[in-house]
Amino acid sequence: MRGRAKLHTDEAAVEYVPKSLTSALEFDKVFSRLAPLEIDLGCGDGAFLAALAQENPTHNFLGIERLLGRVRSVCRKVARLDLKNARALQMESDFTVTHLLAPGSVTTFHLLFPDPWPKQRHHRRRAFTPEFLSSIHRALIAGGLFHVATDHADYFHQIERVIAATDIFVISREQYHFPPTSFEQKYVARGLSVHRLLLRKVSPVR
Ligand SMILES: C[S@@+](CC[C@H](N)C(=O)[O-])C[C@H]1O[C@@H](n2cnc3c(N)ncnc32)[C@H](O)[C@@H]1O
Repeated sequence: MRGRAKLHTDEAAVEYVPKSLTSALEFDKVFSRLAPLEIDLGCGDGAFLAALAQENPTHNFLGIERLLGRVRSVCRKVARLDLKNARALQMESDFTVTHLLAPGSVTTFHLLFPDPWPKQRHHRRRAFTPEFLSSIHRALIAGGLFHVATDHADYFHQIERVIAATDIFVISREQYHFPPTSFEQKYVARGLSVHRLLLRKVSPVR
């Protein structure tokens, strides 16, 4: 029952608990410094977040995850690596992006292996919708990136359709190296394909 075990003080300090749920997060206070901010939505156990934070010490990293046990896993990883540029927030992703992020405050969002909700009647629960994309666009800096990956072909086609219908993002062809997430490692070990897109925010021409 490691996930329910109490955290040590240094581990617990990794979790950010906002004082208000009605005003935007102040990232100079969250990280005690201002730096380009990357947010991992549904960060799971934080393997990706911690690896990326270790590789990029000049950026700040916030993992958002709704499950307490997984937030605790993130806290343990970040504390073990003594990373000062990564924190975890136990919160619902859509609520955070829509209500807790100031416009133009995020350099990069990652949405990696979001729950696919494979049954047709559950598709409306999928995170990636035109409204969500619009909230992501608002929170990103000019030219900011939205990194999306899934093993689920049907979900990926839905994502492609949403992108094809919008003029607020373009697909970036730049090559980036990203560490694998925990779910990615499991899927790749099973021989599943990974579908990945890197989107760049653009201003629509009206
Ligand atoms: C399939 S797992 C992928 C985890 C991680 N990104 C990875 O690739 O290893 C999806 C994660 O998103 C979290 N999640 C799902 N819906 C969420 C939401 N609305 N807000 C925050 N986290 C959410 C789940 O609890 C889970 O940890």
